[in-house]
Order: sequence, then C-alpha cells, then structure tokens
Amino acid sequence: IPQSHIRNFSIIAHIDHGKSTLADRIIQHCGAVSDRQMSAQVMDTMDIEKERGITIKAQSVRLNYTKNGEEYILNLIDTPGHVDFSYEVSRSLASSDGALLIVDAAQGVEAQTIANVYIAIENDLELLPVVNKIDLPAADPDRVLGELEEAIGIDATEHNLVSAKTGLGVPELIDAIVERVPAPQGDENAPCKALIYDSWFDNYLGALALVRVFDGSIKKGEMMRVMGTKQDHQVLDLMYPNPIAPIKTKEIRTGEIGIVVLGLKTVDAIQVGDTITTAKNPTAQPVAGFEPAKPFVFAGIYPIETDKFEDLRDALNKLKLNDSSLSFEPESSMALGSGFRTGFLGMLHMEVVKERLEREFDLDLIATAPTVVYRVKKTDGTEVEIQNPSELPEPQKIDTIYEPYVKATILTPQEFVGNLITLLTSRRGIQIKMDYLNETRVLMEYDIPMNEIVMDFYDKLKSTTKGYASFDYEPIGFRPGKLVKLDIRVAGEIVDSLSIIVPEEKARSRGLAFVNQLKELIPRQLFEVAIQASIGNNVIARSNVKSMGKNVTAKCYGGDITRKRKLLEKQKAGKKRMKAIGKVEVPQEAFMAVLKLD
Ligand code: GTP
Repeated sequence: IPQSHIRNFSIIAHIDHGKSTLADRIIQHCGAVSDRQMSAQVMDTMDIEKERGITIKAQSVRLNYTKNGEEYILNLIDTPGHVDFSYEVSRSLASSDGALLIVDAAQGVEAQTIANVYIAIENDLELLPVVNKIDLPAADPDRVLGELEEAIGIDATEHNLVSAKTGLGVPELIDAIVERVPAPQGDENAPCKALIYDSWFDNYLGALALVRVFDGSIKKGEMMRVMGTKQDHQVLDLMYPNPIAPIKTKEIRTGEIGIVVLGLKTVDAIQVGDTITTAKNPTAQPVAGFEPAKPFVFAGIYPIETDKFEDLRDALNKLKLNDSSLSFEPESSMALGSGFRTGFLGMLHMEVVKERLEREFDLDLIATAPTVVYRVKKTDGTEVEIQNPSELPEPQKIDTIYEPYVKATILTPQEFVGNLITLLTSRRGIQIKMDYLNETRVLMEYDIPMNEIVMDFYDKLKSTTKGYASFDYEPIGFRPGKLVKLDIRVAGEIVDSLSIIVPEEKARSRGLAFVNQLKELIPRQLFEVAIQASIGNNVIARSNVKSMGKNVTAKCYGGDITRKRKLLEKQKAGKKRMKAIGKVEVPQEAFMAVLKLD
C-alpha cells in the first residue's frame, strides 16, 4: 500500500468524552475484530484501566479500510485524557498527522479539550472536530461547536456528529479521516529516521519499541542504531500493532507505525523520544522537538516489612520497564527505614503505581505524602533541589526557596465562579484571565503554586462546583515563596517522613489541623502519646493520644484460650497497615492526613 494511502491519527478528548468507545467503534467498523471478540473495551487492556475506566498507556492499532475500491491503512493512536498523562498525549501526537477532537455533545468543551488542542496545534496536526454522544437527550451540538470556536478559536464548520454508543455517524467519520488527515510526508529513499513513541517490556520478546517511521524503512535482520545511546542492535522481529495480536512483517516502511524487537533486556536502551536509524547509513538529525517526561510529584514508598526492601526494588524495576516516566532512588528514613523516593507525573499516576505495586507484586507499602520539587538558594550562594521536605537546609542557611507554579485552566458553569475565586485565592492563586464562552460557561486561568494543587485541590474543586468544573494545568516554572518546614514529633521524636513544607502564613493553622488529624488516626497505645507540630525548635501545636488502659485480652482472663488467641489474631490483622515508629504504631492514613488539612 503506497504512502499516499496511509493515515496516522490520534483521538484527543477530555476525560469520559468517549475516546475509547469511539476507538472501539472505528476498529469494529474496519472489521479488525469480530463482534464476539469485541469484549467490553478492546483499547483499554490493563486490569486497572478496566476497573477505573481510564486509559493509562497509549495504544495503537493498524486497520485496513477500503473506500471506493481503494485500500487504505488507518493507524489509530488512542491517548489517555487525564491531566497526569498529558505526556502520553504529546508523544502520541508527535507520531500522528491528524487528530480527532472529540467533544461530548452534552458537556461541551472542558479543560483538557483545550489543553490537548494546544498540543495538537504545536504538532501541526490537522484537527477534525467531532461531537460525540449525539444520542443523549441533552445533546446540544450547536452550542458545543460554538464553544470550540469561542474557547479555542478553531474553525468548526467542517465537523462530524457521531454517537460512539450506537455507531451513528461513524462510517462518515472514517471517510472524513481518509479525506482530511494528510498522508505522511517522508522520503522512502532517505536514511531511516524513526521516532520511538512508546516502549514496554514483554516477558518473551524483551523490550519493545513502538515507532513511527518518518523516512526510509526498518527491515528485519538489519543493524539499527539508537541515536541517543549510540548503541547498535539487530532487528530480530517486526510487527504491526493489532487489536487482537500483533501481526509479523519483514519491513516497516516510510509513514508506517510498527513494533520493533531488538532483543534488549531493559527499556532503558530504547527511551521514548529517541530516534532509531540505520547503523550503516545513519540519518543526520534525530527527530526533533520531543520533550522527555519529567516527574512533578515525589513521595517516599516504603515496605511495611523491612525485609521486603529488595522485593520493592525488583517490583519498581519491573514497573519501570513499562513506564519510562517512573523514576526512583533509594532513600532511608529514620522513621520508616529503607525505601525509595519515587517521582510521578501527578497524583493519579502515584495512586496507580502504588496500587500496581501492591496488587501485582503483593507488597504492603507505606507511601508518604506527595511533595513537589523545591529549589533552594543557600546563603553560601549554592543551589540545591529538594524532593523530600526533610532535606530542607536549616533556616539560617536558606537565602530563598523557589517553588514550582502551574498555569491552571478551569472551565465552569457561571454560577460557581464566586466559590471558585474564593477557593483559588485561598490557594494563593493569581487570576490571569476570565472569559465568558457563552451565557452559561466561564473559562478561568490562574497562576498557582503547584504545592497547593497536589494537596486535595481536585476534590475541593469538584465539591465546590458539584462536579461541574473541569481543570487542567501545565508547569510554568519556579517563583520565590515564603515557605517553612513543619515537623511532626510523635512521643517527642521528629518523624522525618511526616515533615511538610508550607507557606509561612499557613503554618500555624496547618500545624494545628495536622496534629488534630493525627490524634484521630493514631490508635490508642498502652501509654499516652504526645503529638506536636514544630517549626525549628518552636512547638506551634500539640495534642495527645490517650492511653488505652488495659490490654483487650485482659477481659478474657481465665477464660477460654482459643477465644483469647482469636482476639490476639484479630489485633494482629488490624495492625497490618501500621508501621512501628519507635514504640508507636502509626497507620498509613497518618501519612496522607496532610492532604486534607483545609
Ligand atoms: P478515558 O479513556 O477515561 O479518558 O475516557 P474516554 O474518553 O475514553 O471515555 P469512554 O470511551 O470510556 O466513555 C466514557 C463514558 O461515556 C462511558 O460510560 C461510555 O459508555 C459513554 N459513552 C461514550 N460514547 C457515548 C455515546 O455516543 N453516547 C452515550 N450515551 N454514551 C457514550
């Protein structure tokens, strides 16, 4: 099939606007899977994705389609919609020539619709506006198209109206893809230039690279060079991605996407964003304009049983094979022992990783509260980067602390604007823009410290707006902040893994809220436990966990021994998620309490 008959496109949308459902429908219409094989959602393959109904890893499929007797190849690249995974969106878009912009006909344009369109525009993609869910009684396609023109300024005269649920409008949409998405441009006689836009680990085949070939081709058996590492590897196998099982091929040609097997044991050797070229006749320049993933949020992850440290290391290494955005380094905590400081793209990413570690590797873990990265200029003129609040230098050695800011985009029905302004102001937000898209919907832009949104911001935003507002953010660099480290002492000892960095003006109220939460969360022990919040040596808040008095087994003194044993076992099971800090048992919830201080 000639290059002119290849179409590479992504689907972008705000979360839940129907990307995966539409992708399934397109796959089905192209006949790549039978109705029987069409299990709930072919595109979302991971267990957690099915349960949570979200897409985490971008998936690609190659489809055959015949229009007016001519054969076409449609390469469909599904992208995740959640704010944490916008990195996956950008790498998917870098390998596409066009994008379907899906908007829910009842909900209209949301924050991630806008964010994704900007990434698509940066990548010079042909945008096809698609209004989905037109079967819904509340569907209002005209209003939605108006919002697209108003909020983003895109021309929506040519658009498609579809229902991914019923399939209405899907054949017309596929025709529009063939007509409007440009064919790949690329020189088949030039040296090979292929972008690695995804990589993962397969137990049998080793590390796999999903590539888009921009120039030349990749042939089975050939020696290829990974330009970033300057290493040469032989191509053991080539495959086209397919919804049922990959299809083997001898060559991946200009404009195509495919899976390359290089027989590598780790994905480190094939980093996403790197370029593959022919070893004998390498291309002069790698594919440009690709930014690697950067973790924004860090947390400590510790095994509850200290002898599971090596198991945790193995598990993290295995997860990293599939998730190049995950980073981790060993760290030790006085309170928690040996664990890893782990970097995440955002809070959802952190939750997913922790859940996978516990589920797939059967580990019991304690995660500390997430923190952003701070830059500290010291009085001696040097600068350090802090990923863990307990590493903050002593106050007298600090000249300035810089904290990361984000640009937050919020879309909301206008009746919630007042509440949102109150919330954003209390989070130290600075208003940049407020636009009415129409009579009922408002677009707000704020610069806001990232520290204020890794806390419970998203939940607060949803509760303030009855779930109607949507939110997206992008980092905009570091700014100086008046910040201090708040330490927590349990029974007189500083628990390093509970330290947090807070704005000076909020230190007292946060400290008080924190000790009160801890008082509720730390179970009664055999003795009274003092809990204090301090800045340096100044205690700013305190409370006590009362002693529980007699051991519960005392009740059955002289009683039936099996009953006594059962009670003890019950107590032990209840302790599973506890970590002993000194003589005090502290539950996992205590480490997260800091997320709910307002
Ligand atoms: P993420 O992958 O989580 O970003 O979401 P998504 O955009 O892929 O959305 P998904 O396909 O999971 O659809 C979200 C919800 O909308 C599901 O409950 C779908 O069944 C429903 N849905 C999708 N398309 C339609 C449609 O055309 N009509 C109706 N009524 N519901 C739809």
